[in-house]
Amino acid sequence: MKPIPVKISSVGTHVPDRIVTNDDLSLTLDTSDEWISTRSGIRERRIAADDQAASDLGAVAAARALEAAGVRPSELDLIITASLSPDMLFPATASFISGKIGADGVPAFDLSAACTGFIYALATGSAFIASGQAEKVLVVGADVVSKMIDWTDRSTAVLFGDGAGAVLLEPAESEQEGILGFDLGNDPSGAGLLSLAAGGSRLPASRETVESGGHFISMNGREVYKFAARIIVSSARKLLGETGYGVDEVDLFVPHQANIRIIDAAAGKLGIPPERVFTNLERYGNTSCASIPLCIDEAVLTGRLGATAGVQGKNPDGSGRSESGSNKLVLMVGFGGGLSWGSCLARTGDIKRIQE
Ligand code: ACO
Repeated sequence: MKPIPVKISSVGTHVPDRIVTNDDLSLTLDTSDEWISTRSGIRERRIAADDQAASDLGAVAAARALEAAGVRPSELDLIITASLSPDMLFPATASFISGKIGADGVPAFDLSAACTGFIYALATGSAFIASGQAEKVLVVGADVVSKMIDWTDRSTAVLFGDGAGAVLLEPAESEQEGILGFDLGNDPSGAGLLSLAAGGSRLPASRETVESGGHFISMNGREVYKFAARIIVSSARKLLGETGYGVDEVDLFVPHQANIRIIDAAAGKLGIPPERVFTNLERYGNTSCASIPLCIDEAVLTGRLGATAGVQGKNPDGSGRSESGSNKLVLMVGFGGGLSWGSCLARTGDIKRIQE
């Protein structure tokens, strides 16, 4: 059976109201705006309220994506949520999101692949549609990493922010406007480089795990940096090669928003000019599974993707690529704990979002 082509038909996002700037952090941590912005590119991030969990952000993003597409929650065939900061170990955050948006009866499950979770969830949702098992799949990336951070540890506290993004996947009319392929991978030898060690079945919660900081994210930043800069390039090249596209055909490169130096190094190595690289980490930090859909949403909002794309005129580099919003070639690349990685190449047509 020929796979059914799959498209991203709408996007919705939500971030908490509270903005925490680098200067705010330097009031309680031995750090500075200068260090954080030059080492990471981050200037501020959104931080969830005490009573906000991943499903609270994810449900708003999900409802927005559905409203934009004109799809009722009951019409969904599947909800997949990617998160490294789920509401609970179980039940799934997708189940809470389902309850909040009124999707009773719709299958809902979580997927754990750290910051690569959104791309893995996109691949999983696409496979359900491609195989004919589903027609409307909601993929939600929702993270409140601020709840998993040791706020006295300057090496991690300055990097992360909270947010959520959701996309609706549906069958595409033709392969020309759909998802063209994925490259997914994992290197288990790096599992210890980025983790939240306690609270699972390996190290159940105890006084010792609390006192030793086992319930906080720990990271070997330098090693993760090297891995990310290398894997973005190799995964993107592999996917472009397998799908038969050249890097010069990529209209928009949307990498996971972890560090501007990682993004610049990878884009430079790939030969993608800055005007075709999407970044917003200066305002959100690393929002983990939400970072790529937050970029997609903003790219549609600003006319770089979707129905209105191109209204702002020619491509900045003056190249002959399509000026119309439809059929933009988008390369998304995620990476994170695992150590995992995932790329997705898609032709995006009219991605709908609600006007706020
Ligand atoms: N403020 C001031 N100084 C700091 C801070 C801070 N917030 N954090 C660390 N430093 C100090 C260190 O203590 C060190 O001091 P020393 O030289 O006296 O020992 C110095 O700055 C340099 O530290 P490095 O770790 O070498 O700094 P580096 O340039 O590597 O940048 C960073 C650190 C930003 C963490 C970088 O390594 C990085 O971005 N790594 C990738 C992280 C990442 O992408 N994580 C997310 C993965 S996705 C997921 O699944 C969650």
